Amino acid sequence: MVQSQLLAFALLSAGFVSAAIPSRDVQVANSSSSSALAKCPGYKASKVKTTATGLTAELTLAGKPCNVYGTDLKELVLQVTYETDNRLHVKIQDKANDVYQVPESVFPRPKSARVNSKKSALKFNYKLNPFSFSVSRSKTGEVLFDSSAAPMVFESQYLRLRTKLPNNPNLYGLGEHSDPFRLNTTNYIRTLWSQDSYGTPNGANLYGNHPVYFEHRKTGTHGVFLLNSNGMDVKIDKAGGQFLEYNTLGGVFDFYFMAGPSPIDVSQQYSEISGLPAMMPYWGLGFHQCRYGYRDAFEVAEVVHNYSVAGIPLETMWTDIDYMDRRRVFSLDPQRFPLHMVRQLVDKLHSNDQHYIVMVDPAVAYAEYPAFEEGIKDDIFMKRSNGSVWKGVVWAGVSVFPDWFAKNVEKYWIGQFLSFFSDSTGIQLDALWIDMNEPSNFPCNFPCDNPEAAAVGFPPEPPPVRTPPRPLPGWPCDFQPVGTACKRSVLDASETTDLEVRGPLRSKHEPLVARASGQQLGLPGRDLLYPKYAIHNKAAYQDSWNAEQGGISNKTVNTDLIHENGLAEYDVHNLYGTMMSALSRKAMLARRPTLRPLIITRSTFAGAGAQVGKWLGDNFSTWGHYREVIRTALGFASIYQVPMVGADICGFAQNTTQDLCARWAMLGAFSPFMRNHNEYLPTIPQEFYRWAVVTEAAKKAIDVRYRLLDYIYTAMYQQTVDGTPLLNPMFYLYPKDANTFGLDLQYFYGNGLLVAPVTEANSTSVDLYLPRDVFYDFWTLKKIEGKGRNIKVTDQSLTDIPLFLRGGVILPMRVKSAMTTTELRKQDFELIIPVGKDGKAQGQLYLDDGVSLEQKGVTNVRFDYAHGKLTVKGKWGYQTSVKISKVTVVGDGKNGKKVVGVNKRLTGDFVVKV
Ligand code: GLC
Repeated sequence: MVQSQLLAFALLSAGFVSAAIPSRDVQVANSSSSSALAKCPGYKASKVKTTATGLTAELTLAGKPCNVYGTDLKELVLQVTYETDNRLHVKIQDKANDVYQVPESVFPRPKSARVNSKKSALKFNYKLNPFSFSVSRSKTGEVLFDSSAAPMVFESQYLRLRTKLPNNPNLYGLGEHSDPFRLNTTNYIRTLWSQDSYGTPNGANLYGNHPVYFEHRKTGTHGVFLLNSNGMDVKIDKAGGQFLEYNTLGGVFDFYFMAGPSPIDVSQQYSEISGLPAMMPYWGLGFHQCRYGYRDAFEVAEVVHNYSVAGIPLETMWTDIDYMDRRRVFSLDPQRFPLHMVRQLVDKLHSNDQHYIVMVDPAVAYAEYPAFEEGIKDDIFMKRSNGSVWKGVVWAGVSVFPDWFAKNVEKYWIGQFLSFFSDSTGIQLDALWIDMNEPSNFPCNFPCDNPEAAAVGFPPEPPPVRTPPRPLPGWPCDFQPVGTACKRSVLDASETTDLEVRGPLRSKHEPLVARASGQQLGLPGRDLLYPKYAIHNKAAYQDSWNAEQGGISNKTVNTDLIHENGLAEYDVHNLYGTMMSALSRKAMLARRPTLRPLIITRSTFAGAGAQVGKWLGDNFSTWGHYREVIRTALGFASIYQVPMVGADICGFAQNTTQDLCARWAMLGAFSPFMRNHNEYLPTIPQEFYRWAVVTEAAKKAIDVRYRLLDYIYTAMYQQTVDGTPLLNPMFYLYPKDANTFGLDLQYFYGNGLLVAPVTEANSTSVDLYLPRDVFYDFWTLKKIEGKGRNIKVTDQSLTDIPLFLRGGVILPMRVKSAMTTTELRKQDFELIIPVGKDGKAQGQLYLDDGVSLEQKGVTNVRFDYAHGKLTVKGKWGYQTSVKISKVTVVGDGKNGKKVVGVNKRLTGDFVVKV
């Protein structure tokens, strides 16, 4: 997006960008209002009704309204439910039920068993006047959450609730952010408001929103989820006593408390609330290549070819918005990506057992072409109050935005997918990439009342049309230079049309005039553009224009737009990406109903993992970002239940370097989603084959990743079954070891493989922490006794990455890697058994067909090793001719290592004597 930044400067100097940004004034209001907030009366509770499974009460404003950032609500209701033995639900909402709440259709509420409070691991306690509540552990009485830290404020456009915390708590979560994994506890603000976040700045709100935190104590871990999609600042500070404070622009207090007591328990308990993650196709774990700026279908084919020549396994080739006609979604550039060439490209990929993915953005070009016209006909775009479509600016220039709440939007979106991505006549897409779904409206700054002016330069001139410049052995004739003796397809003249932009369009749909009450549609009479409380919304280009904390409509659609169902964008902005994800999943399923969809999105809300995977957006090719993506990915996999996660390997923006790209290829192999992607020229290309050492690093990294792929697939499967994380921060597995609580440069992939990459430029060593446990060097199988202190690993060339086996965890590995995952699945297994302190080890292997939503038969077996005997037991439903051909035990007895050849088919239980 370098060109867009330049454009932004140009527009600013040309006076196109409006200065009507509320942030400065409101910031001043924020500070002068803190004393006013001190006078807020809080609430008093009455009519408390207690049952075996919870309680209800009425809350009334306890004094004169303070009306600091809106109007204090006079009457609230409290509902407390002991939902499971480990989960407590506490909800405080308006009595009239008018205040907006996250719709069930977007975030289905968890099933509640309604347990007897006596059975609960958590206890709800309250004080009547002023009302406050606390949550404690039933057994020990330890207080986990205590809202008496400040009077509760519940206003029309501002909610505040503060909990006391122990000093310097170990807090994690509240993403999406690029800050340290263990959150800062002094003067720290986590803002949640989806934002196109070029450069993924620290201390800023990024693309997604997950209002959940885990707090880890030596006495146990618990979790707190606030189901609220309004913009918010979560403040963590020590002033006046350590606290965490929610400041939201609306919604209700809808808290779920999770008891743990182990970190993994909390993850599992959160997965019951957020929904279990969707299982991914096996091939989705293969290596993906992408770039923004591939100039034509030939260049895409050329990259595929180059990977094959370099001998680097490429599973999936991607195409960015470059394939589109003037960057309009659901269209093909007739000259650079003509349909017949794209179809041949995909056929060729499929014949190689490779896959193809393209990007789809939500914004539809405001131009005469089918996707726009059909959207107008179906009446699915967001509108102004006068009924005309609301226009912003994205890649294609002036654009309109689907209203995911519109009645016909499902028909429209699925319809576009069925025709544009038709397997018989369109692009035979295997999986999907969705982007800009914060939604981003980046070149047209708020209030965006002259999108045509802001769209100058959009879309940019495409590169000159060319004919294939060099022979591409093995590719169809259309991919060969002119003059090559072969038979070409004929270009269909109708594929090129000259489209014209239309004048303003009016919709038949009239805005809602009367708002029904009692339906959680949001309070009437609010200022939906300029709420008095200013969340710390960082504009994407924080170093250029709008460097200050931005107004909430900056670089997105205006927050005063009302969706077709009556909800205000102000309330549901944070849901946009997740709603696009859910509908895109339906659309992919409509195309191929029996296959697991693989969808990678940029913007997420709590619960997104049940639909999609996530990439971390526009990072930079810097060592800092290489380090930061570790912790951000950890957050998604281990806290937010979005295990299919990964960053742009080698970095998206700015020029990468050979060394960084080599290291990142190794690191990227140990993140669930592995894709190399970067931006447009003049940023240098960074496919792994561009440098010899990167080629070597990538080959080695992919080789190990693929050999471990079933171990990873098994761990991912387990997360889809019960929320056990695929990636584990160190403290998840060593919760009593305080030295692990802040570590975020090393982590466990699954529960048995410790990954500790070299993290500094020009370095060949890494200092990593080993808890008191038994580990083994993955590469040499040498035993290393963890002593609860750092060890230094040296001599790590650019093609090395330190990996350690955790004693006690058996790793099933393929004996050999392959160029594609299809080939890989034909390889036999070996078992690596690094015994733990007690001389024992366990492991798991899950096998299925890798692609079907509903499996006919799966194999899920458990390995147990003790005293020279390996027992393999489980379910054997997946038919395969693959065998276990080797077993290696390390660390048992004096021998150090024992290898036995076996010949065990994966068809039934067996025992091996080692
Ligand atoms: C956004 C995406 C990036 C993509 C670009 C062009 O910046 O984050 O990955 O390449 O748009 O589509």
